[in-house]
Amino acid sequence: MEPGVIPMPEVGDDDVLIKVQAVGICGSDLHYYEKGAIGSCVVEFPFILGHEASGVIERVGRNVTNLKPGDRVCMEPGIPCYHCKDCLTGHYNVCKHVRFWATPPYDGCLCNYVSHPAAFTFRIPDNMTFTEGALIEPLAIGLHAANTAGIKLGQTVAIIGAGCIGLVSLLASKAYGATKIIVADVLDKRLAKAAEFGAVTVNSKERDFVDEVMRQTDGAGADVVIDCAGFSATMQQAVACAGNNATVVLVGLGGDHLDGIPIEPLSCKELTIKSIFRYRNLYPTAINAVSAGLIPIKDIVSHRFKFEESDRAFATCLKDIKNVVKGVIEF
Ligand SMILES: NC(=O)c1ccc[n+]([C@@H]2O[C@H](COP(=O)([O-])OP(=O)(O)OC[C@H]3O[C@@H](n4cnc5c(N)ncnc54)[C@H](O)[C@@H]3O)[C@@H](O)[C@H]2O)c1
Ligand SMILES: [Zn+2]
Ligand SMILES: [Zn+2]
Repeated sequence: MEPGVIPMPEVGDDDVLIKVQAVGICGSDLHYYEKGAIGSCVVEFPFILGHEASGVIERVGRNVTNLKPGDRVCMEPGIPCYHCKDCLTGHYNVCKHVRFWATPPYDGCLCNYVSHPAAFTFRIPDNMTFTEGALIEPLAIGLHAANTAGIKLGQTVAIIGAGCIGLVSLLASKAYGATKIIVADVLDKRLAKAAEFGAVTVNSKERDFVDEVMRQTDGAGADVVIDCAGFSATMQQAVACAGNNATVVLVGLGGDHLDGIPIEPLSCKELTIKSIFRYRNLYPTAINAVSAGLIPIKDIVSHRFKFEESDRAFATCLKDIKNVVKGVIEF
């Protein structure tokens, strides 16, 4: 496929023009690339993928005072309406009118220049690379999951799924004070990465995850469970390995429905079941945590590609699932 030529974006009074420097490849990008749709969101071609991005400010709109040309930045990809009840109560991530990069009908940012509201553009410090800047986006999801779970110092967290989202949830859980983290997946390369980050790992094809969590907690179960796969089977495991008064956070969206969740443990264990949708108000936290060396986000990257090889980047991330943990396109 020849790279398309598109006009330079318009820069409104409250926007900044950014020269893009790095874009992470997310599972949703891969899904749109392969299938052309996620649920009711159907791609109309031509369409630009990418929503995990960083870059350099080229130009700022008239009203912008907090950013200037030359600033290194990363961008929060979802722009809410600022006016609805959700926006006004601070829950802008669930705004029904949100325009999110690379979610039809809105184009993404895998291109040379993007225009973006200054309010959703964040300066990154000099000690942070552009790739780390791009990875602030998935990290914000992990922080939102850990935050929503209310993880406290010394707690045990069980995480199901060690893709990018499981790994950022692991890094966030650790940063919020979890001292034992038990991670399940079926892909050894991803489990090895989780182990490198200090987790106890379980290949669910070889061992029973619930048994292992119970063994690791002397039968008490985990304080927090984060399901980063999102299937009936994984939510059943999440409920089964949760301890009394535990919080279970659903992050993964692997299946369409959740079936087979027994009521008895939900009731008898007084579980709190929560879900998250993306993140809100967490970019500054994520940037500070990475810059301070608390979260080694760059270590989740397994594959780097140049912008010109974007086609190969997508093909590799789709086909070589055994080896790819996280792909990033660098300009
Ligand atoms: N809630 C949100 O806001 C939000 C945001 C981003 C992504 N997501 C969703 O989170 C999920 C994870 O995202 P990702 O990018 O890491 O995807 P991914 O596909 O790379 O990772 C999912 C992992 O789960 C593993 N897995 C599947 N079934 C399993 C099982 N039975 N036991 C153990 N592991 C199992 C897979 O091997 C894979 O490594 C996806 O469903 C994605 O759509 C949700
Ligand atoms: Zn993403
Ligand atoms: Zn709104």
